[in-house]
Amino acid sequence: MPSPTMRIAPSLLSADFARLGEEVTAVIAAGADVIHFDVMDNHYVPNLTVGPLVCQAIKPYAVKDGQSVPIDVHLMVKPVDALIPMFAQAGASIISFHPEASEHIDRTIQLIHSFGMKAGLVLNPATALNCLDHVLDELELVLLMSVNPGFGGQSFIEHVLPKIDAVRKRIDASGRDIWLEVDGGVKADNAERVGNAGADTLVAGSAVFSGGRYAESIAAIRTNALAGALARRA
Ligand code: DX5
Ligand code: ZN
Repeated sequence: MPSPTMRIAPSLLSADFARLGEEVTAVIAAGADVIHFDVMDNHYVPNLTVGPLVCQAIKPYAVKDGQSVPIDVHLMVKPVDALIPMFAQAGASIISFHPEASEHIDRTIQLIHSFGMKAGLVLNPATALNCLDHVLDELELVLLMSVNPGFGGQSFIEHVLPKIDAVRKRIDASGRDIWLEVDGGVKADNAERVGNAGADTLVAGSAVFSGGRYAESIAAIRTNALAGALARRA
């Protein structure tokens, strides 16, 4: 059996915004598989970050060995649709949005696909899984929040673990290759449990950027998460 996949997606929210291009280069050199780009509007969430112009500015840095590294845009904005063409233009690979922020979830997914991007739905800690009922087969990614969205550096909410397991089972039953990403408070010391619950893509902001040793932090998160994923199989 092939070894489990465990992608690490550093969140630029905890990077040095005055040196964003260099930070993207540094985390990719340190082993990042995906660049997680948090977009907040001071309306859907109580914080304000960056938009398509900054995504476009970092795009040339999101490369490894001549191949582009996916930019995973996490939209914490309401409404959603008007920003989708702009992020397509700015080089986004994946766009995820919160169901509460879109009037027409299916339409928003179709809009993301119409630009050739992958679509993800993001579930807050208290959002029920039934919002996946009629759209799971259209998604390339499910993003489970393990903090309430809006800020980096918050503590992991433990009751999300059984939810990760439940979504993993639904994805496996679908037979499709849908990424299961977990975002918020992920660190080396809980990565094993997150991997064991069934995640295959881990966002880590403060855990990667705050210590300054990017390669060490990414490797520790990945090693622990993979140990959890392997134990799940056993
Ligand atoms: C929170 C963001 C997260 C955040 C993660 O609203 O969606 O991506 O930056 O940061 P840490 O890993 O520090 O919780
Ligand atoms: Zn995020």
